[in-house]
Amino acid sequence: MFRITMQACAVVLVTASLLGGCSNEPPQGGERPPAAAPRQQQVQRGEELFRQYCAACHPDGGNVSDPERTLRGRALRSHHITKPQDIVRIMRTPISRMIRFDAATLSDEDAGAIAEYVLYAFR
Ligand code: HEC
Repeated sequence: MFRITMQACAVVLVTASLLGGCSNEPPQGGERPPAAAPRQQQVQRGEELFRQYCAACHPDGGNVSDPERTLRGRALRSHHITKPQDIVRIMRTPISRMIRFDAATLSDEDAGAIAEYVLYAFR
């Protein structure tokens, strides 16, 4: 009797896991490698870093010292800044008065997250 119950239980569990339902465990466990982090997560991380490193001069995507060079979509496009790499390039080698963010300050990954956030948030 006990044995049959166990077998039936196992069948139910296997079926449930094949269907991906009725399980308390997430299908693939928690951690994922950062490279596969979904864009949403990257944008959230970018927002935190933006507040920390950029918002003082670019509050709400503006620009406190050069109103022509805001981070809003229209300004960026008119300066041919359309891709995350374009924004990272400016962080690494600013045009004139902006302070420079080298890789020791912001890793390529963090800089990329900020860039994704800027393109997403100030469209
Ligand atoms: C000390 C003030 C300051 C800080 C901090 C700062 N910026 Fe800037 N940013 C500027 C200024 C001033 C300009 C105008 C161009 C120049 O003088 O280099 C600018 C221009 C830009 C531009 C070009 C905008 C356009 O429309 O052409 C981008 C993109 C940009 N900043 C991104 C960032 C990011 C991302 C950060 C944070 C990692 C950041 N900035 C931090 C002052 C700052």
